[in-house]
Order: sequence, then structure tokens, then C-alpha cells
Amino acid sequence: MRLSRLFGGGKGEPPEPPEPPEPPEPPEEEPGDAASDGDDFDGVPEGDSDVDLDLEWRDRAADVIPGGASTGSKRAAALYGESTVFGPTHFVRASGCHITTPGGRTLIDCTMALGSVAIGYADETVTRNVLQAAASGHVSGLSHTSEIDVADRLCDVIPCAEQVRFLKSGAEAVAAAVRIARAYTGRNRVVASGYFGWLDWANDALGVPPAARSDVTRVPFDDIAAIEQACADAGSDLAAIVIEPVVERLPAREWLDAARRLCDAQGAVLIFDEVKTGFRLRPGGYQEYGKFEPDLAAFGKAMANGFPISAVVGRAAIMEAATKTWISSTLAGEAMSLAAVAGVLEWHDRAEVCDTLWRTGEEMMGALRRAIAASGAEGVSVSGIAPMWFVVWDTAERESRFLELALEQGVLFKRGPYNFAAMAHDEQTLIDIEHAASTALVQLVEETQS
Ligand SMILES: Cc1ncc(COP(=O)(O)O)c(C=O)c1O
Repeated sequence: MRLSRLFGGGKGEPPEPPEPPEPPEPPEEEPGDAASDGDDFDGVPEGDSDVDLDLEWRDRAADVIPGGASTGSKRAAALYGESTVFGPTHFVRASGCHITTPGGRTLIDCTMALGSVAIGYADETVTRNVLQAAASGHVSGLSHTSEIDVADRLCDVIPCAEQVRFLKSGAEAVAAAVRIARAYTGRNRVVASGYFGWLDWANDALGVPPAARSDVTRVPFDDIAAIEQACADAGSDLAAIVIEPVVERLPAREWLDAARRLCDAQGAVLIFDEVKTGFRLRPGGYQEYGKFEPDLAAFGKAMANGFPISAVVGRAAIMEAATKTWISSTLAGEAMSLAAVAGVLEWHDRAEVCDTLWRTGEEMMGALRRAIAASGAEGVSVSGIAPMWFVVWDTAERESRFLELALEQGVLFKRGPYNFAAMAHDEQTLIDIEHAASTALVQLVEETQS
């Protein structure tokens, strides 16, 4: 971690940008809209809402967008289970922890945009920053000064960060870390454990040529013998071990120790994928929480509260190798998303955001556990860690039915991992979540018995 530098301070301070125009007034709250603080929201849709209209959008999407969504986890089957025909797939408005569907349903969201929003939707600080950046002109043929300011601030809060390169998606940031490690070591082989996005090196989907991933050996989470064997096989060609440090649970210290030891012994680079854990477990991710520094790390998602930006960060001696290879994306340093990161950093400066995420996640898990116990439902339990938790079901059919019943009660839960806590999940919301889960589970039990 480097010494703090003041935003925009010191020599060479850029001239003040022109005063941006006033941001547009936010739209008037309409009856039935959720307040961003959720105070007056009782978990049940208000006013008229049209479930059929929601399903029409689902059909329209299926016609024009292969799979119905550009993000795999937002496909209807991914949201609710294979061959389900219920459930909204699109939204028209999001505020705090509430989303409004085209049919007018307002739902409490426990998925928080796949963990990319930890403050809340349309957060005032983040939105103000982004609007100002847009109004001031957020791209040019030169890089924006905020790229340096935000990079400096990330070096302050992320333990292993001495230098930073920005990209747009989590997948790009991890791919960049792997490329930097390969450029630095002059080697090819990578040992990998976790999900790293959709790009060729990390994925064995249809359409990926086997050669694209032939130098990557996959190992299971927390398996010391497997990582030792994979590194032994890679031998002197081992460039990196890349690890997603939290997969449904915290890692065993011994596993991480083994990864560090193997990297040190073989002259390879240890990379953490902190795309989900960054600005969630702690601002600096798992490495800060677990006091375990990798050489490089990838951040994304909650770093910008839902705006499209990611970062590869790490030790300067290794990051320097980025200059020897080619990592470049036209809009990597556009200033709207950088302004969103600055807004998130402001939040972390003035509040214990991650402590709140842990506490709120704990309360969400407790609410679900109490609802399960009270309903007498069997074959269902709550798992994960508080900032990233999920419900485990005995069958996919029962899980789908629970999701459907919870939606009727005004709550969108994630199918499988993970539900994510956000600052916007306030006390009333937690009560509403417990009520919705209880009602859904009681009905599910009744249906099972009848
Ligand atoms: C751990 C991890 N790494 C990488 C990614 C890929 O990020 P993106 O979808 O922004 O490319 C994800 C996405 O879920 C992730 O969870």
C-alpha cells in the first residue's frame, strides 16, 4: 500500500474543469414507486401491476437477444430455473434496493446486480459524480486526470496495489493479470481455481478452441494436493497461480499458504481474483480481510457500484510488465466510471461500509433461517458468508417454486449463489424479506403436504 495522495492536490494540479451544468432533476416519485430508503415499502407491490406485461418483455427479449439477456446469469433459466415460465426478466427503474418491473411490480432485490452494487441503486453520491463527469466531457484522445487520482486511491486501500491498470469488465481484469504474469515471467502455464468470466483462457464453453486453454490447469477450491500436483506438472513453465479466494466459503489458510509457497519456490506470480470480494468483504477485498497479500489482483463489480470499470492492481515490479505486452481498451479510462469509483471511495471514507455489509448479510441469513425453522420446511438451508450468502435446496423444482412464491411477496432472491447485502437494505427491508420468505416457505410446505 502506498502513502495517501490527496485528490487533485500537489504540483501539476490540473486546471479546474468548466462548471458542469446542473444535473437534471430526478423523476418525480410516482405512487407505488419505492423510496430509496425503503421506509414506506411493505414488500407488497402497490397499485396496479401487470405480471403479463413482465412476461411480454421476456418474450420480446427472447426474439431479439439470443438467450434473452446479454448477461448469462440474467437469462430467465438462470434467474428462476430451467423450463420455468414465471418471473420478470427486465426492469425499468432501480432505486436503493428496489427494482420496478415494466409491469409495475416493485421488488426488494437481494441479488444487487450480481454483486456489482453494494451501496444501492441510483445512489446519490455516485450518481452526482457520474453526471458531473459526463457533463464535463468524460473521454478524449488523452487520458483523464481522474485516472491517476483513482489509481492513487486504490493503491491506498488495496494492500497489494502499488500500480493500477483500468479495464471494463472483471473478466478483462483477470485476463490482464494473467497476461502480465506471463509477460513478467516469460512463461506460459497457469494453475487456476475459480470463475474468471467468459474469455477464452478461462472457459471451456462451446466455441473455445482447446489450444486457447491448453496451458491452464484447473484445480478445485481448497485442495492442497491438487494445487501441488498441478504446479509440479507445470514445473519451470509455471507463470501464475490464479485464485478466486472465496467460493461459497472462506478458504483454508493452509491452501493459500501452499499457493504462496509454490509460487515463491517456482518463481511464479500469485494472483487473486477479487472481482466479487473487493469493496465487499473489505474495501481491499479478501487480501485485506484475510491479511494475505497476492502479487497481483483483479477488482471490478462493487468497486464502481454498478458502473462498468475494473482494475488489475499489484506490485510495481510485476505490473511494469504491462508495458512489455499489449493490454489496451479504448474506453478503459473513461471518466464517468472512474467518477463512480471515486463515489464509492467517498462512501468508504465516511462510513464503515463493509462492516455494515457483513452485519446486514448476517441479518438476512438469520431472517431466512428463522423463516425456514418457522415453516418447518425440510431440504433447505442457508449457506455462504454474510456479505455473499445463498439458499441451498434439495431439488431445483422446489427452489424454483420458492423463488416464484417469494416474488409474489415482493422479493427477488438469487437462484443458487449469491444473494448480496447492500447499504440500501435497511431494517424495514429486512423485516419485509423475512416476511416474504416465511410466507413463501409456509405455502411451499402446504403444497408439498397436499
Ligand atoms: C470472481 C469473478 N471473476 C470474474 C468475473 C467476471 O466479471 P465480469 O462478468 O464483469 O466480466 C466474475 C463475474 O461474476 C466473478 O464473479
